[in-house]
Amino acid sequence: DIRIYVEEMPGQRREIIAPTDMGLSLMEVLKADGYDIQATCGGMALCATCHVEVLSGPALPEPEDAELDMLETLPVVLEGSRLSCQIRLTPRTDGLVVRLAPTGA
Ligand code: FES
Repeated sequence: DIRIYVEEMPGQRREIIAPTDMGLSLMEVLKADGYDIQATCGGMALCATCHVEVLSGPALPEPEDAELDMLETLPVVLEGSRLSCQIRLTPRTDGLVVRLAPTGA
C-alpha cells in the first residue's frame, strides 16, 4: 500500500492509505475516502470534476491528450493541474501530495 496526502488547508494534510494492486485511480480512492468528487463521466477524462493540483511527490507519467484537452476547458489551469481519474495509483505514486478542486471546478 502507498500513502497519498490531501492538503485540506495550507499546512494541513490528511493521509490516505491506498492499495496499488487493484488498478485504482486517484479519483476512485479519493471518492472512496469520502471526498465529494462528482466524477460524472466515470473516470473517462470528460468532465473535469476530478481536477486536482499536484503539489509535490513523485514525478507522474505525462498526461495523455484526452486529459490535456479536458484540462484546457477549465477556467483556471495551474502548473500542477491534473485529472485525478487519469492518475493510476502504483508503488511509484507513493507520497503524492494533492489539493482537491483547486479552482473550484
Ligand atoms: Fe470525469 Fe475525471 S472523473 S474527468
